Amino acid sequence: MERTFAIIKPDAVERNVTGQVLSMIEEAGFKIVGMKKIQLTRKQAEGFYYVHAERPFFGDLCTFMSRGPVIALVLEKEDAISSWRNLMGATNPANAAEGTIRKKLGVSIEENTVHGSDAPETAAYEIPYFFSALELV
Ligand code: PPS
Repeated sequence: MERTFAIIKPDAVERNVTGQVLSMIEEAGFKIVGMKKIQLTRKQAEGFYYVHAERPFFGDLCTFMSRGPVIALVLEKEDAISSWRNLMGATNPANAAEGTIRKKLGVSIEENTVHGSDAPETAAYEIPYFFSALELV
């Protein structure tokens, strides 16, 4: 079993669609082993996305991710990392495949509803950024 880190982003919390995202997660066979609702500070968002610090959208991304509460999740499944990326769909919802979360619920390339770790090393940074070992059950 593999674990990955996921976020339900502020746009989804604001639109009251977190339940729809959680249903899609459970229907796809993931176990939710960690879940919390938090609001990131701007500094915490910058630390979380540090690998993107040089990209032109970094400032907007950190402003967006700290503008309201998010749901942070740790998901467990065989091949959880790639499986969750597939269920999320393409970064830009306009390019996302049918049946994906971003196709169904995404608004724009920025307000794209969900985040997922893109590799085991990323998950190894992101999971403990939000959760202690005792919170994963
Ligand atoms: S990915 O998922 O890392 O392959 O996608 P990538 O295109 O590299 O984007 C990394 C994160 O930046 C967000 N993003 C943007 N935010 C604001 N404006 C623009 N133009 C933009 N382009 C990409 C994208 O949603 C990714 O966020 P996360 O939280 O990792 O999904």
